[in-house]
Amino acid sequence: DLIVIGGGPAGYVAAIRAAQLGKKVACVEADRAGGTCLNWGCLPTKALLKNAELYHVLAHRAAEFGFKIEGLSYDWSTVIGRSRKVSDRLAGGIEFLFKKNKVTWLKGWATIPAAGKVQVGDEVHEAKNIVIATGSEPSSLPGVTVDETIVVTSTGALTLPSIPKSMVVIGAGVIGLEMGSVYARLGTEVTVVEYLDQLLPGMDGEVRKEAAKIFKKQGFNLRMGTKVTGATVKGGMATLTVEPSAGGASETIEADCVLVAIGRRPNTDGLAMEKAGLTVNTRGQIEIGHDFQTNVPGIYAIGDVCPGPMLAHKAEDEGIAAAEFVAGLTGIVNHDVIPGVVYTYPEIASVGLTEEEAKAHASASGSEIKVGKFPMMANSRAKTNRTTDGFVKVIADAKTDRVLGVHIIASIAGSMIAE
Ligand code: FAD
Ligand code: NAI
Repeated sequence: DLIVIGGGPAGYVAAIRAAQLGKKVACVEADRAGGTCLNWGCLPTKALLKNAELYHVLAHRAAEFGFKIEGLSYDWSTVIGRSRKVSDRLAGGIEFLFKKNKVTWLKGWATIPAAGKVQVGDEVHEAKNIVIATGSEPSSLPGVTVDETIVVTSTGALTLPSIPKSMVVIGAGVIGLEMGSVYARLGTEVTVVEYLDQLLPGMDGEVRKEAAKIFKKQGFNLRMGTKVTGATVKGGMATLTVEPSAGGASETIEADCVLVAIGRRPNTDGLAMEKAGLTVNTRGQIEIGHDFQTNVPGIYAIGDVCPGPMLAHKAEDEGIAAAEFVAGLTGIVNHDVIPGVVYTYPEIASVGLTEEEAKAHASASGSEIKVGKFPMMANSRAKTNRTTDGFVKVIADAKTDRVLGVHIIASIAGSMIAE
């Protein structure tokens, strides 16, 4: 009934849900089950963040809580090993779920030679429906060649052979700040080079300002409004050439490691989907209708390969909804209320409109907004836990009180945003 291409959060969830709804399902995955998220994204990064958090508290804040710790150190290969084990176990869990739900895993690379056909190796499989869930991959930067040892993407940053003394992160987005936080808290000197004047594009303006203040206080060297024009590697060191984004004199920065984190692009390379009549938009994404179907009937697309935030829970929800449509039901994802969390310390979480967006909507519709803000400094539990950085900001319609957006910087913002 259904062939799903890609075994990440979008694909594995769609495959399992469709099987649970009584469909005969196969999932094609070229690499390991679990996709970017379980193998090289969400989960292994969160394992490293936990290590970084624990080490930082023990190394720098133990005395505040009355602990005396002498001779604290860490073993890097165990730290990396723990993160890889987390991925291995979770990917194994997906394989188990495939078996349990009778989803056939077709191991290999898929192409779509025609509507209703999927080729894996020499075999052509036929299905009434195809779901494309091929995810995304790191965007590349002209003049900067990734070797995944010294000049790395987030993937290489998860398995560095040793802890670098210095790291330049290109891009002050989610990956740059999360991975930068891991290394900064484990003792690496971190410089972040960002093309725009502010970090975290797309987030609420006040949140962006507060985050910059906090990261600077934590020792991040933030170089905003700066562009990288090239990188060379010699003798185990990288030299980056940078200049002001608006133009001006160039200078060089040396580092043991460079992390390129300037965004991700939808992954449709090598799918040969044009043979089936499928196209991509100017951003490389596959456009879909309300039912997740592409311009070719019977071919659906979900997750990072489609428009919308590149987030695992968005991909998963789309997987469930697309499977429901394939089964003749109606699947719904409310794309207006997808929360996002940046897992730095403190965490940064948001849902709905930013204040800037809410103001623009209000002035276009003749309505008004109101904004409530509460500092963590005045929150008793935050004071007790000594986690007073940040604030909670709620944006609502002034007349109806309808909540339009919530933005939180706080140690546990990622848990609070669900409420
Ligand atoms: P993917 O997970 O990318 O899966 C696509 C799969 O398709 C891959 O396994 C690939 O091998 C396979 N594939 C591609 N083409 C073919 C083909 N032709 N044939 C066979 N197989 C193919 N999101 C969050 O919500 N929270 C986080 O904390 C978070 N942290 C992240 C940290 C990092 C470092 C990164 C890089 C991403 C993070 N994300 C996070 C984003 C999240 O990983 C993605 O949004 C999510 O994985 C998208 O799921 P997907 O199924 O669409 O694609
Ligand atoms: P991003 O879009 O979040 O940030 C990229 C940053 O790089 C932006 O600030 C951008 O202005 C900057 N930039 C672009 N070109 C540049 C250049 N030439 N020089 C300097 N700066 C440049 O992308 P990122 O961080 O790579 O992450 C990709 C996606 O992965 C995220 O958008 C997110 O959807 C997902 N992700 C989610 C996580 C989470 O939910 N916690 C964690 C990590 C990734």
